[in-house]
Amino acid sequence: MITLYKNPSCIVTVDTKGKSYKRGKEMNNIFPLYDHSIVVEDGFIKDIIPSNSISKKYDEEIDLAEKIILPGLVDCHTHTAFAGSRAEEFRLKLAGTDYEEIARMGGVINTTVSSVREITEDDFYKLVAPRIKYFISQGITTLEIKSGYGLDFENEIKILRVIKKLNDNFPIDIAATFLGAHTFPKEYKTKHNGYIDIILNKMLPYISQNNLAEYCDVFCEKTAFNIFETEKIFDAAKHNNFKLKLHTDQFNSLGGVGLALKYKALSAEHLEVINEDDVKKLAESDTVAVLLPGVSFFLDYQYAPARTLIDSDAVVALSSDYNPGSSHIANINLIMSLAALKMKMSIEETISAVTINAAKALNRNQFAGSIEIGKHADFAVFDTDDYADIVYNIGKNLCTTTIKDGKIIYNN
Ligand code: NIG
Ligand code: FE
Repeated sequence: MITLYKNPSCIVTVDTKGKSYKRGKEMNNIFPLYDHSIVVEDGFIKDIIPSNSISKKYDEEIDLAEKIILPGLVDCHTHTAFAGSRAEEFRLKLAGTDYEEIARMGGVINTTVSSVREITEDDFYKLVAPRIKYFISQGITTLEIKSGYGLDFENEIKILRVIKKLNDNFPIDIAATFLGAHTFPKEYKTKHNGYIDIILNKMLPYISQNNLAEYCDVFCEKTAFNIFETEKIFDAAKHNNFKLKLHTDQFNSLGGVGLALKYKALSAEHLEVINEDDVKKLAESDTVAVLLPGVSFFLDYQYAPARTLIDSDAVVALSSDYNPGSSHIANINLIMSLAALKMKMSIEETISAVTINAAKALNRNQFAGSIEIGKHADFAVFDTDDYADIVYNIGKNLCTTTIKDGKIIYNN
């Protein structure tokens, strides 16, 4: 079956000239193509042709006049599988208590852990499923979701099974990350080695054998895992064939960036307090710097140095970090606008950061993240004639149609 997506006012290709990611100033060039149409065969992009050269009839023709097509968006760092509310903690924050203080008091992540441990797997699935629909309505065709709110064998597996079921039942690509090392559960607060043993000897082997996650992530931070503990988990994760990701340099620089580079991690994420030396090293590597401006906005905290990273030639991606405590924001447009306004990224850079570079952070950049011949036909269609509007309309969803593997999966 051959489908023609015809007459859009613009195709924002995010073309990489075969490189499959964008580094530094390359991020500013997203190669918009005017007066062209896209030929899709069996879910893949077969051709991109001038609209005035269309001579034959296709099996199916979809008119996108006065719309703009972008690659399907990629949200590469989320904690979408959570239960319960942290509104009480939000009140505390509004009254002046900071996130780290609440973490030291045993709150934040462990508050959500209590809610996740209480909910049944079926109810958990029903709770999370509408969130996937909301992402799809924004043009997101690839979504990463982490575990990390179970913090024991049974509940980490429960979360990963729910993510797997979401991936089976929804038409987008949902990639799972094991984040059992999100923080120490209450019962192991003073017995770190006891919990690390469970991660190393029970969780990682089981998850790997049962294909429940592709990546292993660790929160390297004073209130979570120190650098030695992180390294232990990375060693074991590598041994169990996981790709690596790291939450690092959010509040403290403990050496996590160096460790991520040593282990050739796919991504180093957060980086609000990254030092100059680490910026340079990260910029020389293929590890993606995943920045999360929603966290800085939500916690009223400093932003990661996006400008310095991009100007140093790093591969930078953006993500929502959607979670109940540090970025209760599931809106990728708002994230792009925050990146532009608060981190001084150009509109084009924000687009590269939520498409091809976010796909690279998930090791999916060879087949997703840009509109290039041979790639999956994953598109986000916006109701505007200027792609700047996507970032300029703060918090407003201009997406009208989402297309995954050549099929319309959302249409408004
Ligand atoms: O990415 N930094 C650690 N984890 C999450 C926050 C999780 C939570 O507060 O529930 C984050 O910000
Ligand atoms: Fe996170």
